[in-house]
Amino acid sequence: MMERLAIFGATGDLTARYLLPGLAALRAAGHLGDSFQLAGAGRHDWDTAEFRCWAGAQLDRHAGELPASVRDTVVAASHYRRADVSDPAEVAAVVAGDGPVAAYLALPPAVFPAAVSALSEADLAPGSRIVLEKPFGEDLDSAVELNRLLADLMPEQAVFRVDHFLAMTTVQNVLGTRLANRMLEPVWNAAHIAEVDITWDESLALEGRAGYYDGAGALKDMVQNHLLQLLCLVAMEPPISLGERDLRDRKLDVLRSVQPLTDADIVHRTRRARYTAGRLDGREVPAYTGEAGVDTARRTETFAEVELELDNWRWAGTIFRLRSGKALRRDRKEVAVHFRHVPHLPLGHSGEALPNVLRFGLDPEDVTLDLTGIGASAHTFAPLTLTARIDPPELPAYGRLLLDVLDGNAALSIRGDEAEEAWRVLTPVLSAWAKDLVPLDEYPAGSDGPAEGTR
Ligand code: BG6
Repeated sequence: MMERLAIFGATGDLTARYLLPGLAALRAAGHLGDSFQLAGAGRHDWDTAEFRCWAGAQLDRHAGELPASVRDTVVAASHYRRADVSDPAEVAAVVAGDGPVAAYLALPPAVFPAAVSALSEADLAPGSRIVLEKPFGEDLDSAVELNRLLADLMPEQAVFRVDHFLAMTTVQNVLGTRLANRMLEPVWNAAHIAEVDITWDESLALEGRAGYYDGAGALKDMVQNHLLQLLCLVAMEPPISLGERDLRDRKLDVLRSVQPLTDADIVHRTRRARYTAGRLDGREVPAYTGEAGVDTARRTETFAEVELELDNWRWAGTIFRLRSGKALRRDRKEVAVHFRHVPHLPLGHSGEALPNVLRFGLDPEDVTLDLTGIGASAHTFAPLTLTARIDPPELPAYGRLLLDVLDGNAALSIRGDEAEEAWRVLTPVLSAWAKDLVPLDEYPAGSDGPAEGTR
């Protein structure tokens, strides 16, 4: 396992909330040895002592459930230097050391090209790896260009375009449940499934992330990566193995089969909106446009919904609805598979036989199956719901993701061609929205989102 990790953007939100806790979880589970070293680089003019003090406070806050000795070990393994990620000499100094290193770009997508170019002059030891956060590029052209820069830097299998959703246990469970159960695969197609709703509604609002989010918006922040990846797992053909090649080839097939959207489709099948002021969980939430750092001229959406269809034998005729929004009344994070109505019900019954729904809850993690059974009185249909809680994972998503990076297992990272294909799917939406073909609706913070029927 690789023993050196360099984080660019080491004083940012991602490092504080996810990367440091992920490393601590790895240490607690016995995956990080004593020789592990963390090189942090950021824009703050700190020394190592100041960084350690900050990192310790972040771990107290975001990984307080882990033993103090574990948190202290991670802090003590860290070093810090200020670095401009576009300066080759400063970048080289961060990654300098014995043996290969994994360079993690916890940075906004706009600076990826400069950072990758600087790394290519750093004379990295053979076997080194690079990790990039989503969104990978800002559009199709920039993703293609970034892939070209990365191909010059290292082999594809050393490039980790990470998506922490793929490392969530329930997301893994979508695939596991599908492929390890004989009863599901025969009905896993358009003949039996009418719609699949892939939903990530959050009560979380902007939370001080305007610097990144205002340049992205819900479509690029969530749909282009996390939700399309979920679509891939739901809709892919069974792979030969869970190795990186088979898994990523099958995911790519799904993205390639997405029916291209015309402007007319986009008007009817997409929605975008942003939140206005409202009350959420008993507190006042300011309008998105009133948040510090938001440029109203950008007209960034905080809610996006897109309906897609797949042009292939298995799925022609099923609707896949991908939706995500911020500052909504309640968290609803799930993949809901809606089956079609039964073809016939025996005469002489009463009550409604609702179509089956299989739900994979992403947070909290559970699986539920809505069936219809017979209620208290004979011949009366009544809902029957089976629920299974999933055991909490041994590692949080970012722990699993960092373990894969340090172990060199690229199966759950996104291959370059997948990243480009995901942009291809959404490029028509981005341009139609930029031309204002779809209105930017509004919804009060704390509501259920924009009113239906605005399409
Ligand atoms: C991130 C998005 O990738 O995922 C955020 O940038 C979103 O906007 C988050 O809130 C959701 O994932 P998690 O694991 O933080 O709940």
